[in-house]
Amino acid sequence: MSNSLQTVAYVAASILFIFSLGGLANQETARRGNVYGIAGMAIAFLATALGGDFTGYTTLLGAILPAVVIGSLLASRVAMTSMPELVAILHSFVGLAAVLVGIANYLAPENGLAGSEAFIHQIEIYVGVFIGAVTFTGSIVAFGKLRAIISSKPLMLPARHFLNISLLVATVIFGVQFMQLNSPAGLTPLLIMTAIAGVLGLHLVAAIGGADMPVVISMLNSYSGWAAAAAGFMLSNDLLIITGALVGSSGAILSYIMCKAMNRSFISVILGGFGEGSSAASKGPAQEVIGTVTKTSAEEVAEELLDAQSVIITPGYGMAVAQAQHPVAEITKLLKEKGVKVRFGIHPVAGRLPGHMNVLLAEANVPYDVVLEMDEINEDFPETDVVLVIGANDTVNPSALEDPTSAIAGMPVLEVWKAKQVVVMKRSMASGYAGVENPLFYKENTQMLFGDAKKNVDAILTQMRAKDEVGSGDKVLVSV
Ligand code: TAP
Repeated sequence: MSNSLQTVAYVAASILFIFSLGGLANQETARRGNVYGIAGMAIAFLATALGGDFTGYTTLLGAILPAVVIGSLLASRVAMTSMPELVAILHSFVGLAAVLVGIANYLAPENGLAGSEAFIHQIEIYVGVFIGAVTFTGSIVAFGKLRAIISSKPLMLPARHFLNISLLVATVIFGVQFMQLNSPAGLTPLLIMTAIAGVLGLHLVAAIGGADMPVVISMLNSYSGWAAAAAGFMLSNDLLIITGALVGSSGAILSYIMCKAMNRSFISVILGGFGEGSSAASKGPAQEVIGTVTKTSAEEVAEELLDAQSVIITPGYGMAVAQAQHPVAEITKLLKEKGVKVRFGIHPVAGRLPGHMNVLLAEANVPYDVVLEMDEINEDFPETDVVLVIGANDTVNPSALEDPTSAIAGMPVLEVWKAKQVVVMKRSMASGYAGVENPLFYKENTQMLFGDAKKNVDAILTQMRAKDEVGSGDKVLVSV
C-alpha cells in the first residue's frame, strides 16, 4: 500500500472514530456508534499492517491470533457487573504497550533523526514511557480493588503528598540525565524512571477509596489515551496520535462529568489521594440512623402500582446483580397499557460503570423516551405517586444532602423520598457501595420489600397480572 493511500485510510479511520464517539453518546445511536468504531479499527489495522515497508507478517499473526482468541473469549464471558474490571485491565495493557514501544524505540538502531528532531523524539519517548508506566500499575491496582483482590479502602501513607512530589522530582532529575545521553547509554535513567512512575501509579490509585473508583477508571481511560498518543508521536503514526487524543480527552470529559455527579473535585482526582477529604473519618462520625422500618409484600406493591397515576423506577446495582431488568420492563409495559405515567430515573453513577443501567434497560427493550437522567427527573418526585427503588442505595440516600458528616455529603442524589410512596427492594438493611447508612429506609413514606430483586419483581408482575385479570373480569361481569 502506498503512503498516500495509507494516509487516506488513516483519515477515514479517524473520521469513523469521531462518528463512533458521537454515536455512543446516545442510546438510540449507540449500536451505530459501535459499528463505526469497528469499521474504523479494521481500516486502521489493515492500513498499518499493509502499509509502509512492513514484512514481519508471521510475527504479527503469531501475536495477533492468540490475542484475538483470548480477548474474544474473555469479553464474551464477562458479566456486565464485572465490566469495569475488564476495562481496568485493558487500560493496563495500553500502558504496558506504551512502555514497551518507548523502550524499543529508544533502543532501535539509527532512526535518522538529528539535532532538535532527535531531542524532541527523546522527550516523546521519556514522556510516553512515564504516562504508560503510571497507567500500567495504576490500572492493575484499580483492577485489584474492583475485583476485591486488594482492599478498596484508601491507602493513607503518612506524608503521601510529599512522596508523590518526591517521585515526580526524581522523574524530572532522571529526565535531565536521560536527555544528556545518547542511545543506548540513557537506558539506565529511562528504566529507573519507569520503575519510579510505576510506584507513582500504584500509590496514586491505592490512595483512592472504593466509592470513588468509577472516576479513577475513567481517569485511567484518559491516561491510556494519552499513553497511546505518546506512542503515536514516538512511532510518527498520525492515526495513533489522533485516536489517543480522542480517548484521552473523552476520558477526561467523562471523569469531569462523573466528578460533578459525585460532587468531587476533578483536581484532587488528578493529584490522587481522592476520597480522603470526603471520608467519614475526616468529617467526624456520621449521624446515627434510628427508626422503624415498614415492610411490605409483592401483593401490596402490585396494588399500589395499579392504583398509581405516576410511577418512577430508580434502578441501581442490585437490579444488575439480580438481572431483574426483563420483568421490570414487563411491569413498565403493563403500567403504560393501563395509562399510568411510568418513567425511569437514572443516576449518573448508578451501578458499577457509566451507563450501566441504560445498557440493562436497553437490553430489556425499555423505550428510550421513558429513561431519564437524574437532572431531568429530580424535580418530578413530589408529584409522583409511587417510586420503585430497585437495588439502588447510595444513589437515593438523603444523607448526601441532609447530613454534612456523611461520607457521601454533597453528592447529588435522586430525591425519591419526596414522592408520596417509596418502595425499596433489596435483600437486607446492608449499606451500599460507599458503606453509608441510608435514612431513606426509615422514612414514614418508605416501605421495604426484602429479597432478591428478580424474585420480587417477578412476584409483583404476577400479582399485577392476576389483579388486572380480576379487574377486567369484573368489568365483563358488569357488562353482562
Ligand atoms: P449501591 O449503593 O451499591 O447499592 C446496591 C444495593 O443493591 C445494595 O445495598 C444491595 O443491598 C442491593 N442488592 C445487591 N444485590 C441485590 C439483589 N440480588 N437483589 C436486590 N438487591 C440487591 O448501588 P447504587 O445505588 O447503584 O450506587 C452505585 C454505587 O457504586 C455508588 O456509590 C457509586 O459511587 C459506586 N460506583 C459506581 C460506579 C459507576 S461508574 N456507576 C462504579 C463503581 C462504583 P442488599 O445487600 O441488602 O441486597
